[in-house]
Amino acid sequence: MSEREPDCEQAQAKPPGDESPWTQPPPCPDEIISRRDLVGSVLFTSGTLLAGTVVLAALGRTQQQGAGDYKAILPISQLPDEGDAYYFYYPRPQDEAVLIHLPGRGLIAYSRRCPHLGCTILYEAQHRRLLCPCHMGVFDPSTGIPVSGPPERRLPRIVLQLDRGMLVATGVIL
Ligand code: FES
Repeated sequence: MSEREPDCEQAQAKPPGDESPWTQPPPCPDEIISRRDLVGSVLFTSGTLLAGTVVLAALGRTQQQGAGDYKAILPISQLPDEGDAYYFYYPRPQDEAVLIHLPGRGLIAYSRRCPHLGCTILYEAQHRRLLCPCHMGVFDPSTGIPVSGPPERRLPRIVLQLDRGMLVATGVIL
């Protein structure tokens, strides 16, 4: 029996008639890459195989919506501390993104483009929230779901994987 939150259960459901293997539902909180996953990938020398297995288990699925670009974000040894974030660009050089190390949870990444009118969102570690300063839109960093302000859509999530000691991005889920 699933312990997931009701809104996550709803978001996981595919539209009627959607049989495409490339359609991936939005993230649920248990799909975050955990610190244990990261430590395991560092400890074992068969990094690629193990990391792939770990990530598949963590994500629960392999396909994503649309073909994404493979891009290294950071070596695992340089990941942000718990509660901190790291800004990067993905998939294009001008596309701002944020990697967040959720305290006690693990890693998750989003586009920083606000779905309201396109301003750049910020991660506020002290408040554990993602904030769009243009109209004070606030997003839950563990799900990307808007919790206050004008945004009505969640933040696009960037798919993360572990590969040979690197954290890499492999696609964007809108
Ligand atoms: S552009 Fe982000 S809340 Fe309006």
